[in-house]
Amino acid sequence: MLGIDLTGKRALVCGVADDGGFGFSIAKQFANAGASVCVGTWPPAMGIFETLLRRGKMDDSRKLANGSMLEFERIYPLDAAYDTLAAAPEDVRTNKRYAERGDFSIEGMVKRLTDDFGDKCVDIIVHSLANGSEVRNLLLDTSRAGYLQAVGVSAYSLISLTSKLGPHMRAGGSVLSLTYMASERVIPGYGGGMSSAKAALESDTRVLAFEAGRRWGIRVNTISAGPFASRAASAIGIIEAMVEYAKVNSPLPEELTADDVGNTAAFLASPLAAGITGTTIYVDKGYHAMGKSL
Ligand SMILES: NC(=O)c1ccc[n+]([C@@H]2O[C@H](COP(=O)([O-])OP(=O)(O)OC[C@H]3O[C@@H](n4cnc5c(N)ncnc54)[C@H](O)[C@@H]3O)[C@@H](O)[C@H]2O)c1
Repeated sequence: MLGIDLTGKRALVCGVADDGGFGFSIAKQFANAGASVCVGTWPPAMGIFETLLRRGKMDDSRKLANGSMLEFERIYPLDAAYDTLAAAPEDVRTNKRYAERGDFSIEGMVKRLTDDFGDKCVDIIVHSLANGSEVRNLLLDTSRAGYLQAVGVSAYSLISLTSKLGPHMRAGGSVLSLTYMASERVIPGYGGGMSSAKAALESDTRVLAFEAGRRWGIRVNTISAGPFASRAASAIGIIEAMVEYAKVNSPLPEELTADDVGNTAAFLASPLAAGITGTTIYVDKGYHAMGKSL
């Protein structure tokens, strides 16, 4: 039988701080396929995430198909806005929620990972994070600082993660990110440079696939997911309407689930997808194919 088997593989899923988003479902489906999973968590959200885990508040969602529980091998602090600790401003480094975490930069996370597991230690990297401080602003009303922050955190961070983790990935490695069709079509309400960040992310996926493929033999793909009411998406303010609109107007008139995305990620990370790289895969119930609303 042809099945997805990630036994013996280690994944690092960046952008997990609760059980309500794509990152969590991706981590869970990786574990269901046999992988061990580390996560990178934004320091401001880390305390509550650890508390919820400790108090068993996520136990229902952590249940795996074989009856065991999803366990995170490590939870690393990660602020994807910073490549090195020195790049973080003083007020961030001394902020209580950051100061207690040590080196929360991308470089710091990579160092902890290799200290914990050795040089060639990871097979799958997932970038499931985004942040645009002015997301509620029209692009016309977005400041330069807001725009650069959105693109830096949500797109450049994929380049930084790939370049720093590429040397530590084992043969057949796979890098995945999450994008949204606001990169190619106008989605009113998805502002602040977030549409620009997703366009950059998709273009970078193609270039990184070429460069990292040649340098390390790894694959780079991105999943263009349909609207889903995660915590991050709720911050945009229009997510419920977007979910309903997609449901009514898609070829498959049903709500997208986080597991739809998790299952695709597990496939893309597996040897079954050895021929797929540099691609944007739509997991959106087919909405992207429509040219007219119903
Ligand atoms: N929910 C949707 O409708 C939708 C649709 C398409 C694509 N996506 C993409 O999916 C990915 C995951 O988002 P989600 O909707 O599952 O929400 P989510 O809230 O589960 O994930 C976003 C994560 O990003 C983290 N984060 C924010 N700023 C960070 C930073 N500076 N450093 C490190 N982590 C940071 C948050 O703590 C959170 O854990 C994002 O790239 C998002 O753009 C979401």
